Amino acid sequence: PYEARVQALLGRMTVEEKLGQLQQLAWTGDTGPGGGQTAEAEKAARQGRLGSVLNIYGAKTTNTLQRMAVEESRLGIPLVFGLDVIHGLWTTFPIPLAQAASFDPAVAARDAEVSAKEARSNGVHWTFSPMMDVTHEPRWGRISEGSGEDPHLTAAIAAAKTRGYQGEDLAAKDRLAACAKHFVAYGGAEGGRDYNTVDVSEARLRNLYLGPFLAAVDAGVATVMASFNTISGVPAHGNRHTLTDILKDEWEFGGVVVSDYNGVQEMTVHGFAADHADAGRQALNAGVDMEMASTTLADHGKRLLRSGAITTARLDDAVARILRLKFRLGLFEHPYVDEDAAIEEPTKASRAAARETAARTMVLLKNAPAGKEKGPLLPLSPSASSIAVVGPFADSTDLRGSWAGPWADKFPPVTVLDAVKDAAPKARVTHAPGVDPAGKDTGGIAKAAAVARAAEVAVVVVGEASALSGEAAVRSDISLPGQQEKLIAAIADTGTPFVVVQVSGRPLTMGGWLESAPAVLQAWHPGIEGGHAIADVLFGTVNPGGKLPVSFPRSAGQIPIYYNHENTGRPYDPDNKYTSKYLDLADGPQFAFGHGLSYTTFDIGEPKLSVSRIAADALRKGDTVEVAVTVRNTGKREGDEVVQVYLRDPVASLVQPVRRLCGFRRVTLGAGKSTTVRFRLGAEDLGFWTHDRDGTFTVEKGEIQIYAGNSSRARSERTLTIT
Ligand code: IFM
Repeated sequence: PYEARVQALLGRMTVEEKLGQLQQLAWTGDTGPGGGQTAEAEKAARQGRLGSVLNIYGAKTTNTLQRMAVEESRLGIPLVFGLDVIHGLWTTFPIPLAQAASFDPAVAARDAEVSAKEARSNGVHWTFSPMMDVTHEPRWGRISEGSGEDPHLTAAIAAAKTRGYQGEDLAAKDRLAACAKHFVAYGGAEGGRDYNTVDVSEARLRNLYLGPFLAAVDAGVATVMASFNTISGVPAHGNRHTLTDILKDEWEFGGVVVSDYNGVQEMTVHGFAADHADAGRQALNAGVDMEMASTTLADHGKRLLRSGAITTARLDDAVARILRLKFRLGLFEHPYVDEDAAIEEPTKASRAAARETAARTMVLLKNAPAGKEKGPLLPLSPSASSIAVVGPFADSTDLRGSWAGPWADKFPPVTVLDAVKDAAPKARVTHAPGVDPAGKDTGGIAKAAAVARAAEVAVVVVGEASALSGEAAVRSDISLPGQQEKLIAAIADTGTPFVVVQVSGRPLTMGGWLESAPAVLQAWHPGIEGGHAIADVLFGTVNPGGKLPVSFPRSAGQIPIYYNHENTGRPYDPDNKYTSKYLDLADGPQFAFGHGLSYTTFDIGEPKLSVSRIAADALRKGDTVEVAVTVRNTGKREGDEVVQVYLRDPVASLVQPVRRLCGFRRVTLGAGKSTTVRFRLGAEDLGFWTHDRDGTFTVEKGEIQIYAGNSSRARSERTLTIT
């Protein structure tokens, strides 16, 4: 509807104004090197030589800057304001990895809706979320920002979150433009070291990393961000194959490709561009439309145009994409935000949503009997006479995780200690941290042990601080930092039954303490209502139903470890020396992808197929196979189970994963109740991408094994034959 206006505007723009639209400057330097560009942004806005500003929020602040662009520049083109609203603005939801653990895309959509409402009312139009970098690297701090190791789960969450931010109409007062990031294969960084090299085959690129982006594009995502890594020797910012051939041509993505912070300029440091001008040339020609923070195109674009190194056609295409985004956001009609309507704090409803979400993301890893009890330790009884709540994160507000932003500091999370007091008002609740958040023992372990010894039951809250995950927060050792394991050992020695609650932004290795702990709850970084949500699960107000979206290794030496790996020619066999294994470790992860317990039990039946044979041609034409799985709650209370369907193509022209997730559904069932969950598998599930750079997806003849269960260890199996 606005194309004529886009073209009319383009026709009136000078080269400087066009190059200006391509520029995004950082209001503050919070999320990248080099400091804020506030003064430059104000000047460029007035001159009509600026397209966007990031790291900015606040109705007054954004309106003031917008006025400079709209009322003082020659053409009055509004600015688009971006901010990393990753899991909430004021209302911090659990980190994205936790949201994936819910195995419930609606959870991600809800965070996005609340975030969009809060952020848009504060002048933000665009969030750099969802992050959908599949990764096999728990050392990588950014694993906390994505959905873990599986492309199918990641794609479902990415699409839901995109829809949650954007809704039907980007111009609405409670919506944000989303950004699918980081394009692409950023999660493959060697050694998990941030920004590091990625060397990836075409087949793996498409089968592992690209799927979630395609799902986001299909969901209508407005923008895509290039990634910091190289992809097989070519920086993502200068990668025509990924940005243009695949994203813009093959997938017909019509939105804006934004660079990452200084990502264009950094191509010189990679050793791919000769200088900043060359970096700008390569980025624009590869498909980057907007440059974040660095100014290579604004500085050198005119000269590049004159020399023919970049073309007017490509420049106009990039500008038109940016103008379309601004029209879609309704910025030409409503450039300003209503300062009286700005949401300035979490509401009762948003807090309730964050609490419910956090409780849905918790994963009960272990729940064994303790002390004299015959049954499992959890749920705890709120009528216990005394409860010790110990550990460095017991009375800590550091539960928000990475990318909660300085803006949310005003609203610290509810602590576990306070929440336990609320949940068990009659109990004597005692506390001692034991060690500090870095795990340093300053004589506190003995005190914490004494507190635990005197109690009927103990809750030990350990983990890693928010600053240990997220961007540029990589660890080589992913065990509990400092003396926290020693703290757990000291609590175990008291003989008091105890549950370990682990808060973290990544899988942690658990070592010997796991054996001694009767119960372990993986709580991730649960956000503003984290304490309450943890207490809800500990005391059984909420029956946990989360599942691991990533394998938990036994030791960092096992990394990369992921369930959807290929078979070696000599798979693990404990009785055969010449097989694939570590001499000093048991086989497989500590906890498998998809694992998670409940306070009730479930029985998952065999997968039933609507047909046992189907023609490859029929699949290619759109036919599907139905897989029906019956799940029964065999326990005594209502609970949630995630029915998971995996498949394996045992003989193919490219070696296939030993299994891969192709369907999941979280269901709530009352005691004794059952339901049948149905999935449809089509060509896109049963086939795979080949190494062909032009994109060939193949569905081969042969047998496919289909498994149903409640983790990646699902055993019950049927065979589908593709003819
Ligand atoms: O959106 C982020 C990106 O994920 C990492 N670098 C900075 C960007 C903007 O803050």
